Amino acid sequence: AGGLDNAIAAFQQGEPVLIHDASDRENEVDLVYPAHTVTSSDVARLRNDAGGLICVALSYDVAEAFDLPFAADELSHPAGSETGIEYDDRSSFSLTVNHRDTFTGIVDNDRAQTISVLGEAARNPDDVDFASEFDIPGHVHLLKAAPNLLDDRQGHTELGIALAEMADVPPAAVVCEMLDDETGGALSRTNAAAYAGENDFVLLDESTIIDEVMRE
Ligand code: 5RP
Ligand code: CA
Ligand code: ZN
Repeated sequence: AGGLDNAIAAFQQGEPVLIHDASDRENEVDLVYPAHTVTSSDVARLRNDAGGLICVALSYDVAEAFDLPFAADELSHPAGSETGIEYDDRSSFSLTVNHRDTFTGIVDNDRAQTISVLGEAARNPDDVDFASEFDIPGHVHLLKAAPNLLDDRQGHTELGIALAEMADVPPAAVVCEMLDDETGGALSRTNAAAYAGENDFVLLDESTIIDEVMRE
C-alpha cells in the first residue's frame, strides 16, 4: 500500500505519521514519531499541533527488560482496582520518567532528551542500566504494548510499535492525541487529514497497519 510505504519511509527519516484508531474505539488521531530521533522542535510540534498527552510507547519486551510494569498492576489505591475506560479492556499506561540529565524535565529540550535516549535504549535494551539513566517519576508518560501486540490490543500504543517494527527502527514511538481547539474534543479524522495534507505527512488508518501485519 502506498500510504504504508510512505509511512515506513517517513519513520525511517524521523518524520511523523498520523494514526487513526478504529472509529468504534477511541476514534482519535495521534501524531506519532519514532522516539530515537526526536528533537526539541518535534516536542514543540507535539505540544502545539497535537496537544494531547506526550507519551512514549515501548514494546512489551523492551518494557520488560527495563522492569517497567503496567501502572494498573502496581497501584494499591482503590481507584486503580477497576478500569473506568469504556473503549478497551485496559490502559497501556506504565510509569513516568525523566532522563537524569534533565533539569525540570518538562521543557522541550528536556523532553526531547528523555524521549530520544529512551528510543536509543530500546535498540539494545539488555545493555541498558535503566535506573542509572532515568529517574521515576518524571514528565514523559511511558506506555507498554501488549505482549502479542495487535493480536491482543489495537490501541495507538500497539499501532505505533507495529509501525516502528515495520520500519526497522527501535521499538519506541512517541504518541500524542490530536485535539481540536475549536470544539474542545478530539480532532476529527477529516480535519486531521487536512493537517496531514498541509504538512505532507501520511495519515494511516488502523486497518492499513493491521492488514499488513496479518499478511506477514
Ligand atoms: C495516552 C492515551 C492515548 O490514547 C494514546 O493513544 C495511547 O493509548 P491507546 O493505546 O489506548 O490508544 O491514552 O495519552
Ligand atoms: Ca487511550
Ligand atoms: Zn489512543
